Amino acid sequence: MAKNKLNKNWLHDHINDPFVKLAHKEGYRARAVYKLKEIDEQEKLIKPGQVIVDLGATPGSWSQYVRNKLAGAAGGGINGTIIGLDLLPMEPIADVHFILGDFREAAMLAELEQVLAGRKVDVVLSDIAPNLSGIAFVDAAGVEHIIELALEFAKDHLKPSGCLLVKCFNGTGYNENLAKFRATFKTVASKKPKASKDKSSEIFLFGRGLKNSV
Ligand SMILES: C[S@@+](CC[C@H](N)C(=O)[O-])C[C@H]1O[C@@H](n2cnc3c(N)ncnc32)[C@H](O)[C@@H]1O
Repeated sequence: MAKNKLNKNWLHDHINDPFVKLAHKEGYRARAVYKLKEIDEQEKLIKPGQVIVDLGATPGSWSQYVRNKLAGAAGGGINGTIIGLDLLPMEPIADVHFILGDFREAAMLAELEQVLAGRKVDVVLSDIAPNLSGIAFVDAAGVEHIIELALEFAKDHLKPSGCLLVKCFNGTGYNENLAKFRATFKTVASKKPKASKDKSSEIFLFGRGLKNSV
């Protein structure tokens, strides 16, 4: 199909997408918010008082959602802590501490740890989508690396009852990732929320409660 036609089709689908319309109406920066919302409603993930890390946060719809759930009385700030991190800048969101940088770099991990200042984390979210090269095994390795780092971060920083939710892609090392989740968490589930397009191989892995912790 010609590139122009592909672009027109994408634009047509985007404009008519009910989740795009709803995000616009509800003031969210991306339709991706409805993926997190559906999973949160199933798993009762986000609660006031929590410490939450949002990896791959830009443009910010997940952080906006989390912020709304931690918000107290109007204008009163939030009950909890939200730390967002992304390669790309994010328009500020009140009460969200944003770190600009690459999650794969040790310096970014150090910065995250500095902001956490020894506090354990309740929920780690990762909607990170690495830039794709189109070369399947290279892209699979890129996704794998991020998931591996997210798992390491979760093992080191989650509370014993904490949760990790990561975006992964069916086919690219999915079974290996599922096995790693099962080795790390007491409860594991895979999630394909309605807002995740059928034609996309995107799927989310969810783990709750660290094994090997009291
Ligand atoms: C699908 S978007 C996230 C959307 C976000 N959850 C929201 O609701 O607005 C994926 C993000 O992952 C970020 N990303 C990709 N690789 C990254 C890396 N190595 N470190 C940090 N962020 C990364 C991209 O810059 C992009 O903003």
